[in-house]
Amino acid sequence: MKKRIRFVLNGEKRAIDVAPQETLLEALRDGLGVKSPKCGCDRGDCGTCTVMIDGRTVRSCLVLGVEVDGAVVTTLEGVMENGELSPLQQAFLDRNAFQCGFCAPGMIMSATELLARNEQPTREEVQEGLAGNLCRCTGYSPIIDAVLETAGVVPKGGRDERP
Ligand code: FES
Ligand code: FES
Repeated sequence: MKKRIRFVLNGEKRAIDVAPQETLLEALRDGLGVKSPKCGCDRGDCGTCTVMIDGRTVRSCLVLGVEVDGAVVTTLEGVMENGELSPLQQAFLDRNAFQCGFCAPGMIMSATELLARNEQPTREEVQEGLAGNLCRCTGYSPIIDAVLETAGVVPKGGRDERP
């Protein structure tokens, strides 16, 4: 039997009926039409379904929809700032940090959380912070550079010249 849950999604109050076994990923994509979280592996391995619950990243394929009752959920759609791309989103675009783009929403969610707790990460810290997000196109370098550029650690369009 479905249960009605209420939560805040990207700044808006939402209510939806979810089945007990329905994942948050299914509730977002199929129930609410929020398509940025992707289903890559459906078992917690790839990170393409990454969203935030109360400011912490989770793999939405491993969370039940009923678990977010009363929570604040953020997806890539909620990362924009005042209707504009966030600096991190813009850096991804500027640096062509996509090939197929399938991993990008999850990457950006993980990197957004990383930069919120570590404003000036090292390259190694970015690698570690994104370790749970797989890019099957293996385009890791521009992704990491985009995060470092957003942090002001590397210049716009430049390279990481630190020793
Ligand atoms: S789809 Fe959730 S981790 Fe891969
Ligand atoms: S750009 Fe294709 S999976 Fe990352």
